[in-house]
Amino acid sequence: MSNRREFLTRAAITAAATTVGSKALAAGNGQHSAGQAPGSGNPALPADPPLAMKRFPPKWQYGVGGTQLGNMFEVTPDDQAEAMLVAAWQGGTRYFDTSPWYGLGLSERRLGHFLDDKPLEEYVLSTKVGRLLMPDASVDEVGIWKGNLNFNYRYDYTAAGVRRSVEDSLQRLGVPKIDLVYIHDLAPSNKDLGDDWKQYLDTALKGAMPELTRMREEGIIGGWGMGVNDIEPSLAAIEQADPDVILQATQYTLLNHQDALNRLFPQSRQAGVPLVIGAPLGSGFLAGTNHWMYSTDIPQGYRQQRDRLSRIARDHGTDLRTAALQFTAAPDVVAATIPGARNADQARANQQSMQADIPAEFWQTLKSEGLIHESAPTPG
Ligand SMILES: NC(=O)c1ccc[n+]([C@@H]2O[C@H](COP(=O)([O-])OP(=O)(O)OC[C@H]3O[C@@H](n4cnc5c(N)ncnc54)[C@H](OP(=O)(O)O)[C@@H]3O)[C@@H](O)[C@H]2O)c1
Repeated sequence: MSNRREFLTRAAITAAATTVGSKALAAGNGQHSAGQAPGSGNPALPADPPLAMKRFPPKWQYGVGGTQLGNMFEVTPDDQAEAMLVAAWQGGTRYFDTSPWYGLGLSERRLGHFLDDKPLEEYVLSTKVGRLLMPDASVDEVGIWKGNLNFNYRYDYTAAGVRRSVEDSLQRLGVPKIDLVYIHDLAPSNKDLGDDWKQYLDTALKGAMPELTRMREEGIIGGWGMGVNDIEPSLAAIEQADPDVILQATQYTLLNHQDALNRLFPQSRQAGVPLVIGAPLGSGFLAGTNHWMYSTDIPQGYRQQRDRLSRIARDHGTDLRTAALQFTAAPDVVAATIPGARNADQARANQQSMQADIPAEFWQTLKSEGLIHESAPTPG
């Protein structure tokens, strides 16, 4: 039986091969290969955002998030989770995002099981670092994660911590490669860190970030970035370290985008660090649920704004979810958007949304009625 070092060496070789392959694609004319990503055939969306060509290859402009695989808000039964992934794969989705945090290892285990028999070179996989998991039979629910979790967690943004986290993820996923690693939730809005987040950032700047750069050079991972819900840590990483891509969650949707437009996009563009957009549906609100950014406290006026957006979408022969998803994929700085799906029907519907045509007049109406910012990029 091979030991862990041999396992990681194999992982390094495979990841290096994947990275080289991906870079060749990025350097080429950007033609998508077999397993076309939804949206790639849609003339309304940029086939290859120019900025994204520089670093993280925009092989897949659309991915599926892994929070529902971790029982976010409610238990997702095993067969439903599997069916969601099958539907996503059959529809052409080839980018999958997960984290040790999502269901305290459950999302990684489910995703890894699904990917087990999939050709490595056909998909892009991202996970995250920053929390280490510890077995604990007494843990049933943690925050928004439901079910019998059996694990607890502690933060670790040191060099040794992130290396161990990647090794643990490889084991849980049971796949021999991780393409992208995001430093997770190192942000002021993470209530566990609160005002101390800058101390954690300092640890990461000295520990996690240079170590992930080393791991990228060693070929153990394809690239790294931040996976955060606030803009400040993304800016700090772009300014002070060497990230390949930023997973910016909760800051760029149809309903809230001005701050990202003003502060993040210019830095991202200038540094050539593209973005992956997390929570493009506001954790469900823009698909009609009662969760806005992981809370049932809906900001004042948002329900009315959602109603107006829905009505205008209907008047233009489209729907709000479709508009919300395509909106997040439109900017030149965006490499991919990654909505989560609870079941197979949602996965299929979201893929169809990415392929739908939305008339230009719809976007003009949103701008003229002040529902989206004048300078927000729109598809087409
Ligand atoms: N800090 C970070 O790194 C960070 C933070 C946030 C998100 N992310 C990433 O971004 C991904 C997406 O975020 P998210 O999944 O939390 O939020 P989201 O994509 O904004 O919303 C997902 C939710 O929207 C609803 N939904 C999706 N498709 C639907 C459809 N076709 N019809 C009806 N409802 C639909 C579902 O709600 P119900 O389940 O209620 O049906 C689903 O759980 C995550 O999975 C994660 O990979 C990363």
